[in-house]
Parts: sequence; C-alpha cells; structure tokens
Amino acid sequence: MAIRLIDKYASSFVAENEYAAIQPMVTTAHEMLHAKSGLGNDYLGWLDLPRDYDKAEYARIKAAAAKIQKICDVFIVIGIGGSYLGARAVIEFLKSPLYNNLKKDTPDIYFSGCNISASHMQELLSICEGRDVCINVISKSGTTTEPAVAFRVFRELLEKKYGKEGARERIFVTTDRARGTLKGFADQVGYETFTVPDDVGGRFSVLTAVGLLPIAVSGVDTDALMVGAEAARVALVDPDLSKNDCYKYAALRNILLRKGKTTEILVGYEPFVGMLSEWWKQLFGESEGKDGKGIFPASVVFSTDLHSLGQYIQDGMRNLFETVISVKDTGATLEIPHDPDNIDGLNFLSGKDLGYVNSMAQQGTLFAHIDGGVPNIVLELKDRSAYSLGYMIYFFEKACAISGYMLGVNPFDQPGVEAYKKNMFALLG
Ligand code: PA5
Repeated sequence: MAIRLIDKYASSFVAENEYAAIQPMVTTAHEMLHAKSGLGNDYLGWLDLPRDYDKAEYARIKAAAAKIQKICDVFIVIGIGGSYLGARAVIEFLKSPLYNNLKKDTPDIYFSGCNISASHMQELLSICEGRDVCINVISKSGTTTEPAVAFRVFRELLEKKYGKEGARERIFVTTDRARGTLKGFADQVGYETFTVPDDVGGRFSVLTAVGLLPIAVSGVDTDALMVGAEAARVALVDPDLSKNDCYKYAALRNILLRKGKTTEILVGYEPFVGMLSEWWKQLFGESEGKDGKGIFPASVVFSTDLHSLGQYIQDGMRNLFETVISVKDTGATLEIPHDPDNIDGLNFLSGKDLGYVNSMAQQGTLFAHIDGGVPNIVLELKDRSAYSLGYMIYFFEKACAISGYMLGVNPFDQPGVEAYKKNMFALLG
C-alpha cells in the first residue's frame, strides 16, 4: 500500500462506535458508485481508467512528448481548473516547484489560460522571446473563455514566428472527441489532437491526455504513475471501513463535518505538496460544495505557514480539521553543518538530517493542534515516486466520490461555476 491512514490523532474527537454507525452509509455509497446508479453516473470513466485507458492514444502522447522535448525550449500549457491543475501538481510533486529553474534536458513548462491577467500574459510572452515554443491547449468543453483567449494570443505568436505551417507542428490540442469550437477548429487546421473521454470530468482527468501530455513532457515516468493508480483501483474496493483507508478517509470527513468541522486543511510539510493541494482543493471543493453543503477545502504548507496561518489553526474558530500528507521517504537528505563558534546556538542540531528536524516539527505541530482542538488525519505516503503519487491521485478521486455520495450531492457536476460567467458575459455585452 502506498498510503496508510493514521487515525490516532483524531481519536479524541471520533469514538470507535462512530465508524460502525457510519458503515452502512459508506456501503451504500460504494454500491452506488460501483453499480453506476448514483447521481452523475455518466461521469464515472475515471473509476476504471487506470486499467481501461486508450492504449493507442497513450502511445501517441508519449511520441508527442518526445517531439515537444526535442523541438522547444518553452512549453506553454493552456487550460484552467481541471484542465491544468493535475498536470501542474504532478510536475511540481515529482520534479520540483522549481522545475523551470533546475538544470534539465526537458523544456521549461509554463501554465497560461488559468487567469485573465494581462501582466501574467505579458510576462509569459517575454519569456518566450528568442526561444523555441510549443503549446498544448486543453479544454474539454472547448468553449472556456480564459484558455480560448490565451490560445488566440499564443497562436498569433507561433504563426508570426514560424508561419502557419510551422505553427501547426507546434500546437497540440486536448479536447472533447467531437463537440466544441476547439475540436472543429483543430480538425480544420490539422493540429494533432488528444481526447478527453466523454465520461471523465475535468477535475478527474489528470490521468487522461489532459494531464499526461504535459506530465510526459516534463520527463515524469507516466507508466509508473498509471501503475500506481491501477494498484489503488484494485486495492480500494472493499466497502469494509477497517480494510479500506480511502473509504475511512471519506467516513472521517463526514463524521467530523457533522461535529461542526466545516473546514478541512490539507497540510504538507514539503513545498512540492503545495500544488497537489491546489488540485485537491478543486477536486473536493467543486465536487462537494453545492446545495448549501460541503466541507470548505483549504491548504497550508508547513513549517512556512506555521508562521502565518498557524496562529489561526492553533487558536482561532474551532471549525477545523487537518489532513496531513506525510511523505515518509522524500529521497532527499541534507546534513546540518557544524559551526565551531556556535554563533546561533544551534550546534545541538549539527550533523542531524534536515528531514529529521522537519519530522520533529510535524510531530510537535500535530500534538499542539490536537491540544488546540483540531482533529488530525494523517495520510502517510510511502515515498515521492510516480507510483505512489498515481496511487494517491486515485485514492483522493475515489474518496471524493464516496464522500460526495455520503453528503447527498452529485460530485460530478459544477452548476455554480456558470454564475460568474453569465455576469461577466453580460457585462462584456
Ligand atoms: O472540473 C471541471 O470540470 C472544471 O473545473 C473544468 O476543468 C474547468 O472549468 C475547465 O473546463 P474546460 O476544460 O471545459 O475548459
């Protein structure tokens, strides 16, 4: 198992008999999901995706990634929400949040179309100056404004730089199989296209071409990612809470919500967890926040945020619980140097590994927050490998579906996203 759920830090808030009490709801949610009889059952393609993915398209993704790696210095990924968060989360988790600054033989990767900021766009355009560029525009609907505008801008850049023919070789489109403006346009011009399966919604699409093409360009081992997800698919099918940590996580969230814990904070102790938390926030926020219900998903990276939000978590309103992603083996070690003058008084740490100090910060924080009235769920991830991350992605997707069904919402729609668009288009005339 790549993930182990440790519930002892929540035990003073959740009694053993509460698991037994909630088991029937979990079993019902499990049956609805697997029988495909629940709300949103047209969007369950992600459930068997790690086994049933399109192998021919997967081979094309790898070939396109190899081509992109060869012909460009800068790869611009255009998309918003589920059309960019997963790829960015995986790249930052497995490579680095500093990926673009590292020495490497793969292109720099920047994300565009995820805001409507002129300054961000100008900065990206200036980064592209004098460098070879490829783009991947990703939009399942093919009609979302933010990526559509960004695509216009970068298409113009590429056509000016390489001519229409040359640009065609550098533009890759990921969209719906048949519908949407983007698909029609891509077919007309002859761009290479990849498909977002009909039955996979945006925030569940990281293991489709949506996530896999940018991830493969960064040099991540996508095979291992898929194998990890498949291991989770096979492992996480027993409805019995005592045998299924994914379902136990969903159950704990529901129990804590009933006790007034309306905000869940995903905690990482490594900066490389930061973007994964953004992906997780979209997954749970957009899936559960509807019909006046849902847990508000928030995130922090410690120890950084212990010096900002840490105060609130320790001492503020008691409507919080934390879920800690604890990466057991990060693969990195760094020995704290000895200072013969001991000017900072830190020689008691000389020779100790920085990871050890981080783990002590984690222990200390856990106990402090529990004392402060904040239940903690720990998800211990074996290591920082593509396999373990693939496992964790599937773990969260399934937990989200079970949790959404337990809440009585459709976890696979997002009607609330339309409200701002209506107003914006009205204001734009
Ligand atoms: O999860 C979702 O469905 C959304 O967040 C979408 O991913 C997001 O709105 C972008 O949509 P599209 O890919 O159609 O441009």
